[in-house]
Amino acid sequence: MTMSGAIALTRYLIEEQRAGHINAELRLLVEVVARACKQISVAVGKGALGGVLGDAGSPGEASINVQGEAQKKLDVLSNEILLEANAWGGHLAGLASEEMDASQPIPDTYPHGNYLLLFDPLDGSSNIDVNVSVGTIFSVLRCPEGIATPADAHFLQPGTAQVAAGYCVYGPQTTLVLTVGHGTHVFTLDREVGSFTMTARGIRIPEETKEFAVNMSNQRFWEPPMQAYVGDLLAGKDGPRGKDFNMRWVASMVADVHRILTRGGIFSYPLDSKCAAKGGKLRLMYEANPMSLLVEQAGGAASTGRQRMLEVQPTGLHQRVPVFLGSKREVEAAEGYHHAQGTDAS
Ligand code: AHG
Ligand code: MN
Ligand code: MN
Repeated sequence: MTMSGAIALTRYLIEEQRAGHINAELRLLVEVVARACKQISVAVGKGALGGVLGDAGSPGEASINVQGEAQKKLDVLSNEILLEANAWGGHLAGLASEEMDASQPIPDTYPHGNYLLLFDPLDGSSNIDVNVSVGTIFSVLRCPEGIATPADAHFLQPGTAQVAAGYCVYGPQTTLVLTVGHGTHVFTLDREVGSFTMTARGIRIPEETKEFAVNMSNQRFWEPPMQAYVGDLLAGKDGPRGKDFNMRWVASMVADVHRILTRGGIFSYPLDSKCAAKGGKLRLMYEANPMSLLVEQAGGAASTGRQRMLEVQPTGLHQRVPVFLGSKREVEAAEGYHHAQGTDAS
C-alpha cells in the first residue's frame, strides 16, 4: 500500500528543479544513483540465496582494495552497479569510489556532463555476512569549469562545495536520505511499487542528546581529549555532565547516522594511535563529507573535533579524518574538550 498523497522521489526532484534549486542534469543524476541503490538493495536482500555473501577474490587470496581492506563480494558488486548505472547517463564528467585506486573520467564513448560523483558503494562491510544494516553513501560536486577529463585533483573540493549528498540504508526498510542543499529528506523504498516515497520532509536533529556512538574497544588508543570526553559521558548523573548517557554502535556508519538523524545522538570515530598515521579511520570524501552535509542540513553539526568538517581542504581522494557529528550541542561539547586540550592533529 502507498501512503495517500505521498510524494515520490521523482516528483520531489522535479519540484526542486521548478524551485530553481537544481537543474535537470542534477535531477537525473540523483535519479540514476537512486536506481542503482534499488539494484544494490535487491542484491543485499537476496543474501546467501543470491550467492553474494562472503569475501571477494579466490579462496586463500583475499581481494584487497586501495584502503588496504579486504573486499567483500558485495563491495565489488555494489561498486560495479554504481559504475555501470552512472557511466552512460551524460550527467557526469567523472567518478571516484572508496573501492577504486584512482578516479575515473567518463569514457569518451559517452556524453560528458558537469558533475563529479563520489561514493562508498557498500558501507558497513563487516555487517554484510551477519544480516545487519549496510548502505551506500554518495556525494556530488561540480566539475571545475573547462575540465573535460577530470583527474583526482579536480575532486579535491571541500565539503561546502557539495551540490548534493545522500545515503541509502539497506535495513528492515530500504531508506534513501537526500539533500540538494535545501533540507534533508527521507524516502522509503516501496518495494511493491518499486519507487522511493518521501516519508519525512525537512528532518531536524534534536540539539541535545543522551546517546553516543563510538567503538569503545578503541578506548585505550584514544587521545587525551577523547578519553576525557567519554569519561565524563560514562560518569553520567554523578559526573560533570549531570545526566546518564546511553550507548549504541552498529558499526555501519549509515545505520548509526540514520539513528542520529531520526532521534538525535552523537556519532564519533576519533583519532586513535592505531589510525593516527592515516589521519583517522573514516574517509573524508566518501563518508565524512556527505554525512556532514546531511547532518548540517538537518540542523546538526559535524566536526573533526577541531574544525568544521565541511571546511576541511582535502589533500587526497582517500584521505581519512576523525569524525564527530550529530546533535549540535553534543558535538560542540566534544569539540570543547579538544580545544581545551589544544594541539592540532587535523
Ligand atoms: P566500510 O565498510 O565502508 O569500510 O566502512 C566501515 C566504517 C563505518 O561504516 C563504521 O562506522 C566503521 O567503519 C566501523 O569501524 P569498526 O569496525 O572499527 O567499529
Ligand atoms: Mn564506509
Ligand atoms: Mn565501503
